[in-house]
Amino acid sequence: MRSKRAEKQLFTVKWKSNSVVMIDQTKLPRKLVYVKYTKYKQVAKAIEKLIVRGAPAIGVAAAYGLSLAAIESKAKTKEGLMHDLEIAYRRLKSTRPTAVNLIWALDLIMNKARKIDTVRDIKRAVLESSMKIAEDDIENNKKLGSNGSNIISDNDVILTHCNAGSLATVSYGTALGIIRSASEKGKKIKVIATETRPVMQGSRLTAFELDHSGIDVSLIPDTAVGYLMSSGLIKVVIVGADRVLKTGHVFNKIGTYQVAVLANRHKIPFYVAAPTSTFDMNSTVNDIVIEHRNKSEVTHIGNKLISPKNVNVYNPAFDITPPELITGIVTERRIIHPPYMENIAKNLPAVRQSI
Ligand code: MRU
Repeated sequence: MRSKRAEKQLFTVKWKSNSVVMIDQTKLPRKLVYVKYTKYKQVAKAIEKLIVRGAPAIGVAAAYGLSLAAIESKAKTKEGLMHDLEIAYRRLKSTRPTAVNLIWALDLIMNKARKIDTVRDIKRAVLESSMKIAEDDIENNKKLGSNGSNIISDNDVILTHCNAGSLATVSYGTALGIIRSASEKGKKIKVIATETRPVMQGSRLTAFELDHSGIDVSLIPDTAVGYLMSSGLIKVVIVGADRVLKTGHVFNKIGTYQVAVLANRHKIPFYVAAPTSTFDMNSTVNDIVIEHRNKSEVTHIGNKLISPKNVNVYNPAFDITPPELITGIVTERRIIHPPYMENIAKNLPAVRQSI
């Protein structure tokens, strides 16, 4: 029997009868509506427009996009099909540069497809692989949540930034998966969610989904983090990640770095929740492209202009938190502690796992 809480959990992205169904996150919290796509180009647009967002969710959406491309292809030979898949791969890969899950999922599927001989078998393998990535995302995040629940004590107040929940994954969440797991284990907790300007993932999505799951949540302006920490209210910080390097540098939503600096100043533990699909063992900090988004995200709230019309805007969507500010990185395998260079390599030797 499913529990009441499990029934209230959201399903962010799903494969259904040769189509991809996803929650349109741009409509939240006003409306919970689903959109259905049958063409890979629609999925690419949806990723760009943040209809689906969050590192693991865009990885799964891109994987399903490749499955649509396989179905759309009329090719009769392996070479023809691989050519069509390469075009779709490049389009999907170009959507967002910072979260590694997207390129990880696409590469995993393409590498598998290249080794198969017939059109029918390639099409089947592409779909099966994308479904496996989605299933693993749920399973791994449940394990990650359970591992991380031990860092939360009864009556803790937890601060989180952006949205690393059901809405950022297929269903369970990473940072919010830890919170969900602690709550499922009967711990009484309160969550403080930052608004997360300018796209408001905290107020639109985190506040919505925690409330939807019956978890106590209070919203604060991003500017209130320091004050709340100095007043002693926050016991622990837990955030998600878009990419974790082998050095322990964490790329996550803009503002994460300043939360980490403040947590360090106030001696508050700062944890990152990241499934192994979010680790990038090959790149260095300077290799990674930080996405810069449209100035209208900063100059407008909805359709309302809130700044001088032609003001210059700098709108980076992600920042980098250095390893010395991070207390631990919670994965589905275990919690990794400093020294990160040594412990990430030791704990995640085969992180580019096959499916
Ligand atoms: O721009 P977004 O909304 O895709 O950014 C999302 C984040 O930064 C999340 O914190 C991150 O992807 C972790 S999700 C489990």
